Parts: sequence; structure tokens; C-alpha cells
Amino acid sequence: MTRISLTVDGTLYEDDVEPRLLLVHYLRDHLGLTGTPVGCDTSNCGACTVDLDGDSVKSCTVLAVQADGSEVTTIQGLASDAEWHPLQTAFHQQHALQCGYCTPGMIMAARDLLKENPDPSPEEIRIGLEGNLCRCTGYQNIVRAVLAAAAEQRRRAAPTPGVEAETTGAAPADRAPAAPTTPARAGREAPV
Ligand code: FES
Ligand code: FES
Repeated sequence: MTRISLTVDGTLYEDDVEPRLLLVHYLRDHLGLTGTPVGCDTSNCGACTVDLDGDSVKSCTVLAVQADGSEVTTIQGLASDAEWHPLQTAFHQQHALQCGYCTPGMIMAARDLLKENPDPSPEEIRIGLEGNLCRCTGYQNIVRAVLAAAAEQRRRAAPTPGVEAETTGAAPADRAPAAPTTPARAGREAPV
């Protein structure tokens, strides 16, 4: 057994694990974070994608001991209590949420894509997500959702024209919509 220490979705964990344990099994079986599914045995489907120290990785290709000292974000760490991640909102609104296998990985890979390219074309999104498979070929709505999330993220990053009006008492014209009150964790629907 090897002692590892890593931060997952903002919480620090320390565990003794077998050196052969895959990160995806550590997340699911040791931490109970079943929002990250296993979709294949061949490292092809991308369902198990998580963020490892700023890069999206297929967690079935990483040993848990290799993640020692790292920071991991899973689909279950994207939403805050008050607000969905723009990608979660967009997948919901664009009907891109399909099954619990492909969706968590699609969202995590898209998140990484938008970090590198905040304004991707549909073609760039298809190329960026080519490592993630939907067996039902639901790609059209997934591309639409990533485009919508990209637009929302750019809108949030832009200077807010309403700030001055707010300080003078005028109603802000473009305040973000209220956060949903229902739980937002897409990964919670993933199969155990
Ligand atoms: S489960 Fe990791 S790529 Fe399919
Ligand atoms: S594999 Fe998830 S909806 Fe097609």
C-alpha cells in the first residue's frame, strides 16, 4: 500500500492505496464520487474525464499514486451551492444532457477546451471533444451547448456596462439570471 494525499473538489484526502489502483476507481470506490463514470475498458470514451492540476485527463489512464499531491476537480465539484457552472446550464438548456455516462466527461473536456479557446467554432468544438464518445451520437446539441456556454463565459468576463448605473441607483440591465434552486450536480445521475 502507498500513502497518497490529494485534494478532490476542494477537500483534502489522505489514503493508503494499492499502487495499481486507477484514479477513476479511487474517486468512485474510495471517495464515493460516482459522478465520474467508467464507460469503457479501452481509454477511448472519455467518460471518466476529470481535471488534474489544470488539465483534463482520462482518469482511467492515471494511477491514483500518480495523482499524489495533486488537485483534482470532478463533475461534482463544478457547481457551487448557489450556481451551476455555465456548461451545466447550457447542457440543460440546449438539451445536451443525455446519459450519465458521456455527459460528465463531455462537460469536463469542454471546460478544458474553453479555458484554451474561449470562442471556439463548431468545428473546433468537435475537434476538441473528439476524445469523448456519445454512443447515441447526440453531438449536435452538445456542440450547441458548448457554444452557448462559451458565449456566457465571454459575457461574464466582459466589463459590465451596468456597474456605473448600479452605483447611481439605476436598475442593472444585464444582471445574470438567478441561480437555480434545485441541485445542479449533473454527475449525481451517473450510474454507480
Ligand atoms: S472510462 Fe476512461 S476513457 Fe472510457
Ligand atoms: S452515450 Fe450518453 S447519451 Fe449517448
